[in-house]
Amino acid sequence: MVKTSLQDPSPPGSFNALFEQTRDLVLLARYPGGEIISANPSALTAFGKNLLTARPVLESLPVPEQRGAFKKVLKEVGEEGQTAHFSGRLRRTDSSSFHSEMDIRKVAPDIWLATIHDISERVRALEDIELRNIAIANVTSGVTVADARLPDQPLIYVNKGFQEITGYSAREAVGRNCRFLQGRDRDQPDLDKLREALRVGRACIVQLRNYRKDGSQFINELHISPVHNEEGELTHFVGIQLNVTEQVEARKSLERSEARYRQALEQEKELNEIKTRFISMVSHEFRTPMTGIMASAALLKKFGDRLEADKKDRHLANIATSLKRMNRLLDDVLFFSRAESGKLQVERRPVALAEYLPALMESLSLVYPDREVTLDLRLEPPASFMLDEHLLDHILQNLIGNAIKYSPPGSVVTCQLREDTEWLILDVSDEGIGIPLKDQDKLFEAFHRADNVGQQHGTGLGLNIVRRAVELLEGDIRFTSREGSGSTFTVRLPKIPSNNDKQ
Ligand SMILES: Cc1cc2nc3c(=O)[nH]c(=O)nc-3n(C[C@H](O)[C@H](O)[C@H](O)COP(=O)(O)O)c2cc1C
Repeated sequence: MVKTSLQDPSPPGSFNALFEQTRDLVLLARYPGGEIISANPSALTAFGKNLLTARPVLESLPVPEQRGAFKKVLKEVGEEGQTAHFSGRLRRTDSSSFHSEMDIRKVAPDIWLATIHDISERVRALEDIELRNIAIANVTSGVTVADARLPDQPLIYVNKGFQEITGYSAREAVGRNCRFLQGRDRDQPDLDKLREALRVGRACIVQLRNYRKDGSQFINELHISPVHNEEGELTHFVGIQLNVTEQVEARKSLERSEARYRQALEQEKELNEIKTRFISMVSHEFRTPMTGIMASAALLKKFGDRLEADKKDRHLANIATSLKRMNRLLDDVLFFSRAESGKLQVERRPVALAEYLPALMESLSLVYPDREVTLDLRLEPPASFMLDEHLLDHILQNLIGNAIKYSPPGSVVTCQLREDTEWLILDVSDEGIGIPLKDQDKLFEAFHRADNVGQQHGTGLGLNIVRRAVELLEGDIRFTSREGSGSTFTVRLPKIPSNNDKQ
């Protein structure tokens, strides 16, 4: 047996065994005076082996600042059986201290018994919880707890961060399901994911559009974690709310500028492609008539004096036709490049169509000497309208030129012009090769040529020019076509009678 007391009395009988073995710290003191006369092994371990010499009286046990309160407690020790209670820090003999709960009572006329619990662990745990509570309460993100066992999982806790993010006070939020932050905006893709996670008690992260108390929107990145009790039963959900509006906006704006950059790159690429195709088209299209001219000119130079008159005429006509073609080509190229750079303007002047159209046919017959076009004019005289002759030239020359180029000799090309109350309506029809269905969508794009054009020369600019000219004149263009059986292009231009017509 460890000798625990300096003098008698030792605790008697069975009390002795309890005194020796209990994990509680037990002291006996003589009163009055408070001299500690006995300490059990637990007490000696807790206070220090030299307790009885270093701290010989009860009053000296608490840390100095709590001794006043302790003395008051000692005064409360009454008759046998009555217990006084002290809760405070006690000093060890090495001057360190520990948290304690102490019960003191009189066990004999001059003997007091003090039973002490070392509650340092409990206090530390409580301090820990307190610290965590302070941390949770003060983080800037929202922290919420919902009770998973109550109907509709109401919030039972919201921290300051939640109140700052949402504008709702704890009093307004606690007791409600947190869906009130969604307002009427309930059709959100992440809600299904959230519902499923809550249903099976799984953690999840979702992004939701939420609304503050003042109605303003923010993007809430919500982190949900389930909490289970020791039996594994789901008891709570913890929600962390992060306002990620700025990050989402920044990401969207980055995506937008990336898209713009990609589009600019794409446009640049397209422009480069157009330039390349343009250069190759121009050089190719010019070379053919130039070769024709050079061949005829060489023949005329070499054999001019020996050639028969009609052969000479044929070569001269060939040169004239080729020059006309080159002229037309130059016209188109110029028109296209001016249209591309936005330099085309409409200059409306009175155009007497009954004179203009036959003259245009005449000039076309020089380019296509071996083909005839039926002109069907159905206009009320004087048929003079405010039009831009230059644009009209481009429309008609390209449409009629195409109709001739892409239909066999001997077939009929018709150009019909009529009017209704609002529009001048031009139909150019042919019985030619038609336009394959798969090319019809892209027909008006620059440099697009249908698959079935074969060896026929062409810039791929004609219909693009026609469309641009028609649009400049505020009209529209459409076509019907069947591969192998011809096409009809219909242009409508707003009918603006020239001043001469107005009464
Ligand atoms: C702990 C916890 C926090 C929540 N926080 C939010 C929130 O901040 N914003 C929100 O729109 N929904 C939040 N919810 C989700 C809603 O409360 C609700 O579960 C969700 O709208 C799906 O259910 P419903 O379809 O019944 O509305 C939270 C849910 C829990 C359990």
